[in-house]
Amino acid sequence: MKKLLVASLAAAFISPVALADNPIKMEDQSQLKQAPAIAHGEEYHKPPSEKDLPDNAFGDMVRKGHAIFVDTKNQLPEYVGNGMNCVNCHMDQGRLANAAPMWGAYPMYPAYRSKNNKVNTFAERIQGCFQFSMDGQPPAADSDAMTALITYSYWLATGAPTGKSLPGRAYPDVPKPEGGYSIENGAKVYAENCSFCHGADGMGQKVGDNYVFPPLWGKDSFNWGAGMHRINTAATFIKANMPLGKGNTLTDQEAWDVAAFMNSHERPQDPRLVEGSVEKTKEKYHANDGVNLYGVEVNGKILGQGTE
Ligand code: HEC
Ligand code: HEC
Repeated sequence: MKKLLVASLAAAFISPVALADNPIKMEDQSQLKQAPAIAHGEEYHKPPSEKDLPDNAFGDMVRKGHAIFVDTKNQLPEYVGNGMNCVNCHMDQGRLANAAPMWGAYPMYPAYRSKNNKVNTFAERIQGCFQFSMDGQPPAADSDAMTALITYSYWLATGAPTGKSLPGRAYPDVPKPEGGYSIENGAKVYAENCSFCHGADGMGQKVGDNYVFPPLWGKDSFNWGAGMHRINTAATFIKANMPLGKGNTLTDQEAWDVAAFMNSHERPQDPRLVEGSVEKTKEKYHANDGVNLYGVEVNGKILGQGTE
């Protein structure tokens, strides 16, 4: 009992830097752990192809899950608060290795997450992305929409071992540069490599009502509670996957700088906002959540105010 108390007190005072240096502390899944690297000659898990889907209730449910995954905002307008679709971050229909593929995720749940301090089912993990990445209201665990998304992921994971972190899960780590990151240099990296598609104002580009290039900040982007608001997480996604079609061309420094630039802009408020106070929310939810700028002053403004 006494030991436990000491351990939890120590955990409460440990700095983010110490956390990152301690692999055991990372097991709490506040952030996804680094997946094993792919061995030479080894292949990533190969999800089945759509043409092999059976013509029965299962096949129908998988097709429905796929439709929701790639067109979430239109399929589930009542649950999505921004302009995003699951596929914007979980690329190639949730199939792409190193872009948090659903086949890498499904076999790893249920799992404990310190973010909500409980053992999360797969449905609860998806609900997290609805609440933060989609800035919306999560569908119920037993709803049709959730059944479809889970069945789709289950199918993508066909033949994958359970409880074993597979190469290609999440995003490969990009170590923080020794000299830190520069928002100013990130603005240059952005202008040269990103603004062409995501817009000089970061708001993405639409055709009709739909984004063809998703917004990176602003009211239609992921909110301040999303995993992507962490500079370290965004740097890993960007390094492996952006500029689109040219993954792994930025240096680690450029990936960190442009991630910091992206995440130094306003976006929808963290829905866990504590008593209307950015300061209190920062303390409770952002102080130990990787590297992030929530509640931090940048260019004379405290970030984390949210958007209309
Ligand atoms: C803005 C980008 C973004 C969008 C949009 C998004 N996600 Fe995520 N998702 C992430 C990030 C980043 C992570 C990893 C989070 C972390 O490390 O904390 C993640 C993690 C997950 C995981 C767990 C992955 C694992 O390996 O454990 C699942 C499952 C998931 N998302 C499902 C979805 C679904 C379903 C949707 C659509 C309803 C969605 N996500 C929309 C960014 C996004
Ligand atoms: C050729 C066009 C193109 C370029 C250039 C490009 N992106 Fe993207 N980006 C996309 C598209 C399209 C998606 C959504 C992928 C999908 O839906 O399959 C995306 C998704 C993203 C996402 C996740 C979704 C979101 O809106 O948060 C981030 C973050 C991102 N890009 C950052 C960047 C950064 C940083 C750069 C520059 C280093 C960059 N992109 C360059 C086209 C581009």
